[in-house]
Amino acid sequence: MKTFYLETFGCQMNVVDSEQITALLQGIGYQPIATPDLADLVLLNTCSVRDKAERKVYGHLGRFKPIKDKRPELIIGVGGCVAQQEGQRMLDTVSYLDLVFGTHNIHRLPEMVQHVEQTRQRASETDFLDRETRLNLFPERTATESVTRFVTIMQGCDNFCSYCIVPHVRGREISRPSAEILGEIEGLVASGVKEVTLLGQNVNSYGGKTQGEISFAALLQAVDGIPGLERLRFATSHPKDITAELIDCFGTLPSLCPQIHLPVQSGSDRILSLMNRGYCAADYLDKVKKLKAVCPDIRLTTDIIVGFPGETEEDFQATLDLVEQVGYADAFTFLYSPRIETAAASMEDKTSARQKQQRFDRLLKLQQRISADIWEQDADSVLPVLVEGASKQGDGQLFGRTAWNRIVNFSGEQKLIGRIVPVNIVKVLRNSHLGELADDS
Ligand code: SAH
Ligand code: SF4
Ligand code: F3S
Repeated sequence: MKTFYLETFGCQMNVVDSEQITALLQGIGYQPIATPDLADLVLLNTCSVRDKAERKVYGHLGRFKPIKDKRPELIIGVGGCVAQQEGQRMLDTVSYLDLVFGTHNIHRLPEMVQHVEQTRQRASETDFLDRETRLNLFPERTATESVTRFVTIMQGCDNFCSYCIVPHVRGREISRPSAEILGEIEGLVASGVKEVTLLGQNVNSYGGKTQGEISFAALLQAVDGIPGLERLRFATSHPKDITAELIDCFGTLPSLCPQIHLPVQSGSDRILSLMNRGYCAADYLDKVKKLKAVCPDIRLTTDIIVGFPGETEEDFQATLDLVEQVGYADAFTFLYSPRIETAAASMEDKTSARQKQQRFDRLLKLQQRISADIWEQDADSVLPVLVEGASKQGDGQLFGRTAWNRIVNFSGEQKLIGRIVPVNIVKVLRNSHLGELADDS
């Protein structure tokens, strides 16, 4: 039997794509294995959102060279966002690379692999596809043993935030037909799934560009109405597309978890404008206020970029102020890194790397204090936890999540998997909770 080794980097989009890659390769007789050493096919599914993504991928590929030197029949391929960005250039640079496939070309992988098997000819396919073709290629999420599932509702992004490579490597935004999404979720729920997360780069603009399609809020209402679905989440949201109708959902839909990831990126209006984000700090704070009004126990998380070109101490202070005001449960903080083809890459930037790092550290320290305060509130309370499976610690424990998406590890019987059980939070760790099943379960 032939085997493949697949490594996935980046966001949930890539995780979902890797599931599709796995299914497609199984369809042509390849089975997954956990290390590259004995594989017939090695694939990297790459991310190019930050840092020196391209260089990292080239470095990573180097690990496979000695294996290929020993076994020249090994096929090596790169997919995902770096592949989309670099294309043929990767084949030119890496002599032992066989395949490059872009973000719209995953469905071509089986044929590409078979072509290399038969002819030993190298190939790169990174053309973007038109809307209709892409809509027909949306991968159907089929049943697994999982209790929770991600369901892709859209692909691509049209926002062109000035720092971001995603619109360049994922192409234009398309929304999947709501009937198809609802049918898929009904199928997942029938097979035992209890929680779904609706997935897209910018889910709350769902349907906006498709004639006759329902709005994102209406989609949430419809998903909430599916019997047997216990919990509903979504990611990621763009603050400019948070509508009053969507905010209301947090007050009315029983399955919608009191949690939202709402990337703010900066608290400075000047920087937000340079970032092409389409909102100012006051707009953002107004939406946060309304969310908290309809759902008082909502917890927010965010993404923040530190050191965007031209960011002054005053701009940065505005970010710290906003972070303090919102009180995020968690924040993913990133040092700005220039990405090719993006507008910000050519903006003047006089701030030193050292200054940026100092700002980053100050923000991190502030956020760690705020996060600790918020998660500490859970201590000694009994929270409903959806049990997902055996704990990653491998110590016979179970793990699940609270409605706020916090991981809880606790002792319990396997038969609890898939159920929502009351768990007393006995210890708050930095990224998870330790709990004990409450007596009444
Ligand atoms: N579509 C999502 C996520 C995009 S990428 C959204 O809009 O929220 C995830 C995060 O990476 C972004 O929110 C941003 O904070 C960060 N990011 C993107 N490009 C970056 C860059 N060039 N430098 C540093 N951080 C970046
Ligand atoms: Fe990138 Fe902005 Fe699109 Fe998010 S919304 S993927 S940050 S361009
Ligand atoms: Fe990275 Fe591509 Fe996702 S650049 S963040 S894997 S869309």
